[in-house]
Amino acid sequence: MSTHAATGGHLLGPVDQVPVGEGRAFVVDGDQVAVFRLRDGSLRALSAVCSHRGGPIADGTLDRQEVICPLHQHAFSLDSGCSSTGAGPLRTYHASLDDSGNIVIAFPPG
Ligand code: FES
Repeated sequence: MSTHAATGGHLLGPVDQVPVGEGRAFVVDGDQVAVFRLRDGSLRALSAVCSHRGGPIADGTLDRQEVICPLHQHAFSLDSGCSSTGAGPLRTYHASLDDSGNIVIAFPPG
């Protein structure tokens, strides 16, 4: 992994690693980050470790706005990381594509 010169974000490589409609887990600067590729082509990134009991968020089921953890089915907003089912929030990251189709992850300020 390298730091992306133009954005200061972390470069994770080609977006093709993440099938459309699915998520994949990456380690970014020591954090486990789940990157999701939505059907409209946009990306979202959340903590890959469920706030409930550490389930694998990248393996969760996606709907348009939420990911459902595969272990106990808590649901989390792909945009805010907030749970609609009462679990604690997941950390969110800014995920984008560079001009070459590589995933770039940026940490939120603060
Ligand atoms: S570990 Fe994710 S819902 Fe329980």
